[in-house]
Amino acid sequence: MKKQITVLLIALLLVSVFAVLQFGSSRAAPQTNISFANDVYPILESRCGSCHLGEFTSADLHMDTYDDLMNGSENGHVIVPGNAKESILVEKISKGEMPKRGPKLTPAQIQIITDWINAGAQNN
Ligand code: HEC
Repeated sequence: MKKQITVLLIALLLVSVFAVLQFGSSRAAPQTNISFANDVYPILESRCGSCHLGEFTSADLHMDTYDDLMNGSENGHVIVPGNAKESILVEKISKGEMPKRGPKLTPAQIQIITDWINAGAQNN
């Protein structure tokens, strides 16, 4: 009888450890349901557009379309799909260097762009 209770307790312990791990990792993982068109683009259009939309843009970085953005600037790619840490665009908005004028992006806006890039920066 005592042995059975011990086994039961160990099983319960394992289940709860598993549950905690599952919960923890699902919270830490980047959101993958972010849409470029619905979530990311509106931020870029409204906050970066004055300098990065149209024929002549700062650093030759165009944001008119997804392809323009992925083509990068005169210096090369500003987004590395799946790797926000290596993406210059994320560095610029995190440090508050971009937008060059006006208020910085909010932490929530920076998170949306970061998560979208970490999820593969898809044209979704
Ligand atoms: C007021 C104009 C202005 C706004 C608004 C602006 N930028 Fe820029 N951006 C520039 C200029 C000018 C440069 C050229 C480099 C510099 O001066 O830092 C630049 C450069 C960049 C670069 C670096 C390109 C490279 O390869 O050197 C990135 C990335 C960038 N901007 C992203 C953004 C993002 C994202 C936003 C919106 C959140 C934004 N910018 C808003 C003016 C602007």
